[in-house]
Amino acid sequence: MYDERYSRPGLYWGSKPTQLARDFVRIARSLPRSPRTLVDLGSGEGRDSIHFARLGYRVVGVDISSVGVRKADRRAARLGVDVRFHVGDIRTYRLSHRVDVVFSSGALNNLPRRIRATRFEHFKANTAPGGINAMNADVPKPYIPPYSMNPFASPFRSGELLGYYGDWEILDSKQVEFVSNSGGVPHRKAMDVVIARKPD
Ligand SMILES: C[S@@+](CC[C@H](N)C(=O)[O-])C[C@H]1O[C@@H](n2cnc3c(N)ncnc32)[C@H](O)[C@@H]1O
Repeated sequence: MYDERYSRPGLYWGSKPTQLARDFVRIARSLPRSPRTLVDLGSGEGRDSIHFARLGYRVVGVDISSVGVRKADRRAARLGVDVRFHVGDIRTYRLSHRVDVVFSSGALNNLPRRIRATRFEHFKANTAPGGINAMNADVPKPYIPPYSMNPFASPFRSGELLGYYGDWEILDSKQVEFVSNSGGVPHRKAMDVVIARKPD
């Protein structure tokens, strides 16, 4: 599905960084120690990864779509930005060493429910002390008609994402509602957002 979207000319998600990326950068600037290394899970065409790299982060972007990864790679090269993009599956992807930031926008609903707890344990264990996880996930609401173009997506329960970070400092946590145009059909959506810091 994403291969097909990313094969089209132009950038499917646009070039501007996501709201989560902007919120994370603002919060990271206020921390006593600036994070340096970042993994972007489900990096798509690379808009957030490239934004972070331009700000001086050392970034690895991971996405299951090889078309997205190639497109992101080419765009980074064109802009003269150093990012390592890899094809990888967030259901199985293993961080080989600790990073300062694990970031994921719009991709975590591709984690099946039965493996979520262990996946979050892995992301958290491989975050350096004092490091950040910045994540969002779609949540269903009874008053919003269900809509998904992605047959593999499974919604998070409202509040579930925050629950994975009960032992971390919560720097930001909210539920947002907005109109998304993904798939070419405008539809309302609710999303949980968490930016959490691992204790030192
Ligand atoms: C809604 S898009 C968001 C892309 C990007 N984060 C952005 O905001 O521009 C979701 C992304 O997750 C990727 N994805 C879906 N399932 C995945 C999986 N199992 N492992 C890695 N990436 C996956 C898709 O290829 C797609 O690029």
